[in-house]
Amino acid sequence: MEISGIDVKDLVEKYGTPLYVYDFQRMKDNAERLKTAFKSDTISVDIYYAMKANCHPAIVKLFWENGFGTDCVSPGELEVALKVGVNPENILYTGNYESLKDLSAAFKARVIINLDDIASLDRLLKVGKPERISYRINPGKGRGKYKEITTGGNKAKFGVPHEKSIVAYENALKAGIRRFGAHVMTGSGVLDEDHFPRMLNNFLDILGNIRHKLGITFEFIDMGGGFGIPYFEDGEALDIHIVGREVLRVFKKKVKELDLGNPTLAIEPGRYLVGDAGYLVSRVLGIKESYRKFAGVDAGFNTLIRPALYNAQHPIVIPGKENVEKKISINICGQICENTDIFAIDRMLPPLEEGDLIVFTQAGAYGSVMSMPYNLRLRPAEIAVINGKDVEITRRETMSDYFNRINL
Ligand SMILES: Cc1ncc(COP(=O)(O)O)c(C=O)c1O
Repeated sequence: MEISGIDVKDLVEKYGTPLYVYDFQRMKDNAERLKTAFKSDTISVDIYYAMKANCHPAIVKLFWENGFGTDCVSPGELEVALKVGVNPENILYTGNYESLKDLSAAFKARVIINLDDIASLDRLLKVGKPERISYRINPGKGRGKYKEITTGGNKAKFGVPHEKSIVAYENALKAGIRRFGAHVMTGSGVLDEDHFPRMLNNFLDILGNIRHKLGITFEFIDMGGGFGIPYFEDGEALDIHIVGREVLRVFKKKVKELDLGNPTLAIEPGRYLVGDAGYLVSRVLGIKESYRKFAGVDAGFNTLIRPALYNAQHPIVIPGKENVEKKISINICGQICENTDIFAIDRMLPPLEEGDLIVFTQAGAYGSVMSMPYNLRLRPAEIAVINGKDVEITRRETMSDYFNRINL
């Protein structure tokens, strides 16, 4: 198995396992495809890379250099975006239950602030008054691949319920703010093309009501991210060109009909840009014939938590056995002392042996960023393949890193 022209076995020999490997060319290709899909002669479109998906500075920089702004959720993410040189005007800050400290960091950095609640404005005004404000609005409906990543609807903790959105903008008007944006993000990992224009259509109706009641217009309308990628047995990839075409059509039509001003359309993809460009490489440590058959590997939910968190399933490749028949049904687990540390249940794979490499693909989004040193199994190195060369962009965590934070 090769990743962007480099043999996985060579990478393992050099850097060990477990190991995250990223194909930077794939990220650039994803960026180009998305740009083309959302290209319009009449609507101005801003794309913000949702760095929560993978906040490595080299990756944030890659998307900035390819024409994307950055979507941040915390002062830490904001600091990374600024450090790699993203222009504050191209940074969107969308917090959740934002503290005064969070709001102060965003205000001082002069980035675009998108508030999570009506009360967030009161807190922000204690810090300062921006010229322009946006709210994340919960349209009362959500859609995500798993319930855990469905961020709209009546069970979601995010955003201002749409019934209260008029009060939210009214409060901003009363505070003397005259420039507005609006934001929605209803869920992640969606593979249905129709969802996006439908969700936008519904959101624009909500904004039309605000426009009608308060007389305000919007400088930007952000429909969030959520563009899915297929993982394991998910069917077809999303046709992003259909999504772009239909979203632009709905946007153009409804903005005019509802007299919403001359807004920019913003999108904030994370997973779509980095998900399929990442690989987690691990090694089989032991095969156990228990009540069920297990292969234990040196990665675990400490390295890639999506399977334990959402029961998400990643495709698996066994380098060197790509063409061997998948005739064994086996459970793949990690070394963590939790019974939820399972990557795959009853997966059909070629016969496995101790020492085999196991590669989890589609691991570039919400992978390494969610890793943790639980059980004091430390975080892996991250390797980028750039122009056919491997570059260690994060070294493997060591016990010295751990002890550095500890007062004995
Ligand atoms: C506000 C916001 N924007 C963007 C994203 C990125 O979503 P995705 O990775 O599905 O594109 C998320 C993810 O939950 C989000 O909450």
